[in-house]
Amino acid sequence: MNTENLSINARFAQDVDQGLSLKLKKLPSKYFYNKKGDELFVNIMHCEEYYPTDCELEILKNQSPDIIAACELPRKRVNVIELGAGDGLKTRELLKSFVQEQVETRYLPVDISANAVDGLVSKLKVEIPEVETTGKVGDYFEILNEVNATSERAKLILFLGSTIGNMTHEVAHQFVSDIAKNMQENDRLLIGFDLKKEPETVRAAYNDKTGYTRAFNLNLLERINEELGGNFDLSQFKHYPVYNPQTGTAKSYLISLCDQEVEISALNKTYAFEAWESIHTEISQKYSKSAIENLAQNCGLEVQRTFSDERAYYADVLFKKQAP
Ligand code: AVI
Repeated sequence: MNTENLSINARFAQDVDQGLSLKLKKLPSKYFYNKKGDELFVNIMHCEEYYPTDCELEILKNQSPDIIAACELPRKRVNVIELGAGDGLKTRELLKSFVQEQVETRYLPVDISANAVDGLVSKLKVEIPEVETTGKVGDYFEILNEVNATSERAKLILFLGSTIGNMTHEVAHQFVSDIAKNMQENDRLLIGFDLKKEPETVRAAYNDKTGYTRAFNLNLLERINEELGGNFDLSQFKHYPVYNPQTGTAKSYLISLCDQEVEISALNKTYAFEAWESIHTEISQKYSKSAIENLAQNCGLEVQRTFSDERAYYADVLFKKQAP
């Protein structure tokens, strides 16, 4: 094991201990994404009930030229920086449009997964060679700072896939404010938001009939078993998603089906669960138009234009800096 792995594991162990020691237990959703979790998430994205991916693809397929026009790029040059690029499938639509519109484009996909970035860069070099693609592995803000320091070009920062929904309002506010601080007058920020809608549609998206979301949620316990020497019995925990239409918050829980104790050897500790006690594992926030406007207002941004799919389930919102 190299030191990088050691420190990642130590952080994981610490977060698990902290979360399971709370009165209301919780685990951070970022730990869903190990190799198995990534694969399950791809399956979720293909599920009939999971609409956000299709909605965003529809928007980028049909409206990329309008998004580009709304960017009002000086001298038809741009640095596109994608935070959490993943497989970059949807972004390809936007990049192709930049090429069609004859915009000189540099693309910087940023992700914590080196595998995802390497795969994406080699694919794009073949598929869209007109775009200069350089992948970056690591911290979002360091990269924004770096680009600020080295380029005169306008930036388009992408934060797609409704990843903002996995943040509380407080964290989202901090995150977007930090991005805004790195933006100049000609820069734009495009964020993908899942919108409030018929509550049953939302609930079904987190409880697909094929069971991929259930497996995705339970994989968190499997990961603790594998990486931290836990002995969670997965058959004694139930996947339980809920949606509150008033707050727009979808939450996922894992619920203990009996009184039980779980040992985690890396932590040298045992955790007691009462029957029906829950572990909160994820939030997926759904936004209203006014919530998006408030976010912009409080972060020093303004909404330039909103791009929605036909069903108005989802929106890619383009922001610019508030006029001084
Ligand atoms: C990555 N993120 C936006 C997904 C979501 O919808 O919150 C993760 C997910 N969790 C369960 N299903 C999908």
